[in-house]
Amino acid sequence: MCGIVGIIGGEKGTNVVPELIRGLERLEYRGYDSAGIAVIGNGIERIRSVGKVANLRGKITDAMVGDLGIGHTRWATHGKVTEDNAHPIMSKDVAIIHNGIIENFKSLRFILQTEGYVFESETDTEVILHLLQRELLKGSSPRQAMSNVFKMLDGTFAVVAMFLHFSDTLLAMRHKSSLIVGLGKESMYVGSDAGALSDSCEEVVYMEDGDIVEMHRTDGIVFFNTELEEIKRRRHGVTSALVNIEKGEYPHFMLKEIKDQPNAIRNTILHNGIDKTLLDGISNILILACGTSYHAGMVAKYWFEKYLKIPSIVEIASEFRYRSPVIQEHTLVFSISQSGETLDTLAAIEYVRSNSNCSTIAVANVKNSATARASDIVFYTQAGVEMGVASTKAFTAQLIILASISFCHNDFLMDKLKEIPTLCEDALDLAPEVEKIAHIISKSNNAIYLGRGMMYPIALEGALKLKEISYIHAEGFAAGEMKHGPIALIDDQVPVIFLCPSGELFEKTLSNIQEVLARGKNVIVITDSNGEMAFPPDVAKIVLPTIQAEFAPILYSIPLQLIAYYAAVQRGTDIDRPRNLAKSVTVE
Ligand code: AGP
Repeated sequence: MCGIVGIIGGEKGTNVVPELIRGLERLEYRGYDSAGIAVIGNGIERIRSVGKVANLRGKITDAMVGDLGIGHTRWATHGKVTEDNAHPIMSKDVAIIHNGIIENFKSLRFILQTEGYVFESETDTEVILHLLQRELLKGSSPRQAMSNVFKMLDGTFAVVAMFLHFSDTLLAMRHKSSLIVGLGKESMYVGSDAGALSDSCEEVVYMEDGDIVEMHRTDGIVFFNTELEEIKRRRHGVTSALVNIEKGEYPHFMLKEIKDQPNAIRNTILHNGIDKTLLDGISNILILACGTSYHAGMVAKYWFEKYLKIPSIVEIASEFRYRSPVIQEHTLVFSISQSGETLDTLAAIEYVRSNSNCSTIAVANVKNSATARASDIVFYTQAGVEMGVASTKAFTAQLIILASISFCHNDFLMDKLKEIPTLCEDALDLAPEVEKIAHIISKSNNAIYLGRGMMYPIALEGALKLKEISYIHAEGFAAGEMKHGPIALIDDQVPVIFLCPSGELFEKTLSNIQEVLARGKNVIVITDSNGEMAFPPDVAKIVLPTIQAEFAPILYSIPLQLIAYYAAVQRGTDIDRPRNLAKSVTVE
């Protein structure tokens, strides 16, 4: 979602424009639909553009120079995707950028309009600009103005502001939307994630809710609370993992990340020894997550109940807090989030913390991310930075952590876990075959994914992946539910992808395949070397290596990711930045 970058050049006169654009390019993976920068040079100069940062770059001339500036990628919430609504939003002498949503913007806008303030955009952000302006007119310093305005806003916000008459200072404030301050050798930075700042910073400080920061070119950085009392914040070294993330030989990050999976899984197994006492005294497990991470949670529910014998529920984090759930004592609460910044997941953790004494465990891919910081224990997936909006390697790495916990009392399965990376390599070797099969799907406007047991969440995940990047309408169902409704969708056109590993539910899934074959002809079966003989020769098949049944969800994810990828390539979509989607979903 929206991305923020702000820079104070080390020396007066250092032009920050090129670095602002580079920062915005690094934020592109988050998903956005317009971009802009503003610098203090000859007054405040601003350039904005709809579409890619490349469009913005094309509009910038050598005449735009400034030694302090802000930049933003906007993912539209309030107001259409237009240049007027793109950030920075500015007046003659103040410019701001904002991530999040101001929930009381309508009433604030009304008050400001009755006082004569004229709005030039449809954004909720513009109320922040005019409120700051109003405070300055009353005689407040920029710091005081930020603190006063902070208290007037409801909702979520990360805001960075610059003031023409304080041309060595950036001010920023955070409430439930990530903001990170970076310290370089000479320059200072503020960004919505460490990735925006990575190659320039040696240390970062994660701002907390309620923090205001004043960054001054020569006086340094000071953090305040909303009462303007000075507070201390810890500095962290920047990990090299964030630096220089390139596609290398691959045409898309998504393909690179799919192919990274054997290593991501290997590293995740290596780095996460599980302390078996973690589960002592636990009577229930609650799993909170959204999207793909929710699907990982659904698989974990099967594992936790079958192998740990602990009743488990998995909840869509965006729904959880609104039904006033009762959390039983001795519940162990997991949150699963690749980004660690998903607002709904974070809010669900906060609900648990305010309504129970239960321990919280975060499974996250991003070091020091919000869910990690909000939880008692963190297990980091070691997938490395995931740039593609469609989560692939982070998902299978999440499954590895959850499997390691589920099977921590079972030495046989823990040993078998170590075979997964090699089996994934074998599955990836099938990419050319999968690419051919993807043609069946890319020609269709609909697709159905079916699986039973642990393969049901993987069917949901396969459908989500296809929707996200190819824009083909796809639905996943539990195969046994077919005859309760979805079978009405079957005709001789719609591709139906069955996940059918050999094992306990093989015969039952086979019957469901027969039911579909009797009504349609576009069946694609993903199975293994033990199962393949059971299917008629004219059924399209992807034959994976046979894997320990418990781990099939991990292996079967790979051909589904490849199907989505190749179908999207065949349709010519923007694979790493699919329309309307964001990598970190930081608003409700
Ligand atoms: C995954 O492909 C999606 N982009 C999306 O569903 C994602 O999994 C969801 O937004 C949750 O994100 P998180 O894992 O960062 O919390």
